[in-house]
Amino acid sequence: MRGSHGGELSHQPVLLGEVLEAMRLWAGAVVVDATFGRGGHTRAILQQLQAKEADGSPRERSTPSRVIALDRDPQAIAYGRSWQEPQLQLVHASFDQLEQVLQAQGVGGIDALLMDLGVSSPQLDDPARGFSFRHDGPLDMRMDPTQGISVREWLLGASESQITEALEVYGEERFAVQIAAAIVARCRDAGGAALQSTGELASLVAGVVRRRQKRPEMGKDPATRTFQALRILINQEFAQLESILSQAPRVLAPGGRLVIISFHSLEDRMVKQFIARESGRSGTEDRRDPVTGAALFDRELRLRDAGRVLPSAAEIASNPRSRSAVMRVAVRVGGASEGSV
Ligand SMILES: C[S@@+](CC[C@H](N)C(=O)[O-])C[C@H]1O[C@@H](n2cnc3c(N)ncnc32)[C@H](O)[C@@H]1O
Repeated sequence: MRGSHGGELSHQPVLLGEVLEAMRLWAGAVVVDATFGRGGHTRAILQQLQAKEADGSPRERSTPSRVIALDRDPQAIAYGRSWQEPQLQLVHASFDQLEQVLQAQGVGGIDALLMDLGVSSPQLDDPARGFSFRHDGPLDMRMDPTQGISVREWLLGASESQITEALEVYGEERFAVQIAAAIVARCRDAGGAALQSTGELASLVAGVVRRRQKRPEMGKDPATRTFQALRILINQEFAQLESILSQAPRVLAPGGRLVIISFHSLEDRMVKQFIARESGRSGTEDRRDPVTGAALFDRELRLRDAGRVLPSAAEIASNPRSRSAVMRVAVRVGGASEGSV
């Protein structure tokens, strides 16, 4: 069932068992789910925290466990509020606001931070949100429709070179130049009436790609890369990720665990390089002056790399959306609860 509240549309959480294992939860832990969505991960985390409290597991804190969940999508937050779960605090915010949100909640160090990046199935499946090239709807794609401008507004005001760059960088689209030219031509010809819907953009892109492509990409709609690129651009997804990564070592308590699931190779590269830098594995931190032996990069190493996890063949078969997922885990150094995934 579809609807403007989106609560009825469900989302199957990816790598659920692996996330729980990576988090090493304990009674009294404070967890942040920075991408609540439809709460698949949050629900399982709450259940595990409550089970540990009920079975009298050893406690490191006397206060009850809690989950603080963020989402920039008002529909996701409205859905979560309907749970009326006292151990869950829901906050409508982008995750680049994490430190401010935690300060406002009076929370010091947190014990686990989860990010399950990208869009949720309810966002993709609701034509009114404008993310989908499969269902026709307004060309919007904002995760938070109360902020910023829609994809249509951006395209109507963008230059050909700006569109080309976005498609190349965020979508790794081979035909970026030709698609950008076709978009600009459509805007010129149709003026203010151009690009009213996702269907119109999808068929414009498909026409360009099919004319150029010798062999179609297996199982991929020709508009996939363009839609992905415009979604990333309009939601500033890479800048958001950069910002929360920089905050993560400051908000995690010693021993706190960082768990990030990404679906895009550029995002995964950002996460991988960040963990390598923070854990001294990027190659620069160990360099020493050959004469004095003094460290050339005197920097505090704040994380320990705890590995990478991919979905099993069984998960990919039952949830095809998981096929491009990569989960990375890191531990804030300085605590007792460290260890690999
Ligand atoms: C893949 S879904 C998460 C699904 C969730 N783990 C579940 O099991 O239902 C990603 C969610 O993160 C939200 N999101 C993406 N980027 C965000 C950001 N920068 N700040 C806050 N929320 C964000 C999206 O609105 C979407 O609801």
